[in-house]
Amino acid sequence: MAYTYVFPQLKKHRTLAEPWHRMKGRWRNGGVETYSLGQSSGIRQLKQLALRSRIEVTEHRIGFADLPENFRGLRIVQLTDIHHGLYLPAAVVNLAVELTNNLDADIVALTGDFVTHSRNYIEPVAEMLGALRAREGVFAVLGNHDFRVDADRIAVALDRRGIEVLRNRNVMLRRRGQKFCVAGIDDFLYGADLPRAMHGVPRDTATLLLSHNPAIIEEAAELRIPLVLSGHTHGGQVRLPLIGCVYGRSDEKMRFKKGRDRLGRTQIYVSRGLGTVVLPVRYGCPSEIPHFVLESRRTASVEMSRSFSSDGWSARPHAHR
Ligand SMILES: [Fe+2]
Repeated sequence: MAYTYVFPQLKKHRTLAEPWHRMKGRWRNGGVETYSLGQSSGIRQLKQLALRSRIEVTEHRIGFADLPENFRGLRIVQLTDIHHGLYLPAAVVNLAVELTNNLDADIVALTGDFVTHSRNYIEPVAEMLGALRAREGVFAVLGNHDFRVDADRIAVALDRRGIEVLRNRNVMLRRRGQKFCVAGIDDFLYGADLPRAMHGVPRDTATLLLSHNPAIIEEAAELRIPLVLSGHTHGGQVRLPLIGCVYGRSDEKMRFKKGRDRLGRTQIYVSRGLGTVVLPVRYGCPSEIPHFVLESRRTASVEMSRSFSSDGWSARPHAHR
């Protein structure tokens, strides 16, 4: 993780172009950066939400096996588990879209659970996500809640807004003759078919796999897929000191349930996502928008992490599996 920010303490109007305010805000919040919502709609509602909600934006530099030179520095932003509905209103979805667009992505990856229970939110969430911008495209896979509500209808709604829904298939991006594959599968419990999704992709092609459920990790590792982006777990959603979360608190039980990990040649990142289920509560586990910068394998041995102190930003090596 390189930096985070929360939204919003809106006593003053601040913008991304005010670095001094940002620096002060980070320092006061222990390294957490505070943003205003700029031109976002629903700002009054957001002020109220600000009392109990926050979104962290995290940055990760990923050493990527066999990354073609023309794709070095590729920027990917992930939105997952939006769960638009009563617990996560339109104002927060719009905010997430605005934050994502500010990250200047090449690829936006939407990894499922757009809604929770109701079909009434399908068109509204698709409409808002239609405002996402990315140079190479916005790609989506569906989550378990999407299948329970109406997978086909969600896929059509997203597709109509220019979002490429990857249902056990892939898309090959090309830059001056070099290739980068974006593959996506249906939810693990609702028809995931990784071999079908990877059909026609030569082994060891630089590939990003989108899978709502991180349980695909073993199968992905067998195929030596370099990077998987997932959600589904909400990072535990409520993580209590000593007790942990619904998945437990040991490192072993939390493997492939949150954050960054690796199995064989396959790296995976499991985002905490935006929304909630069961109750509109998060504790010790804030909402997250991760963004990734892909680098060549040579830089993979050390992941750099930045932190902020009164002396300013500092970078330090960050060990991970
Ligand atoms: Fe979810």
